[in-house]
Amino acid sequence: MALYSETVMDHFRHPRNVGVIENADGVGEVGNAKCGDIMKIYLKIDNDTITDAKFETFGCGSAIASSSMATEMIKGKPVSDALAVTNKAVVEALDGLPTHKIHCSVLAEEAIKLALKDYYDRHGIDYDKKVFPD
Ligand code: FES
Ligand code: FES
Repeated sequence: MALYSETVMDHFRHPRNVGVIENADGVGEVGNAKCGDIMKIYLKIDNDTITDAKFETFGCGSAIASSSMATEMIKGKPVSDALAVTNKAVVEALDGLPTHKIHCSVLAEEAIKLALKDYYDRHGIDYDKKVFPD
């Protein structure tokens, strides 16, 4: 069996939503200090809907495929849907990742959550209450 699914290869070779959003409403950056891999996600949010999402990732192919898929999954969706995106959902959408590459998808979940936290912070909304309502 191939190590990487067709979907992973497709998103690695043709990543969607690469780039920067100037005047983003929320930006989230996560990194792993040990290996130096970095993922940055930019969100444009209008009326609690994610109207645009872009990413810059300095990491392996799985991290690039994860960011590409994750941004596709949240574009056009309500903020509440984006908050619910887990790394597991990203891996499933990619038709799987090798076990030793699962951590790369965790970067995508964390970057999205940090970007949403940034958005809430800018609006003076308590992020924890949104993420863990009661
Ligand atoms: Fe750097 Fe996995 S090796 S995030
Ligand atoms: Fe570091 Fe995938 S992001 S190995």
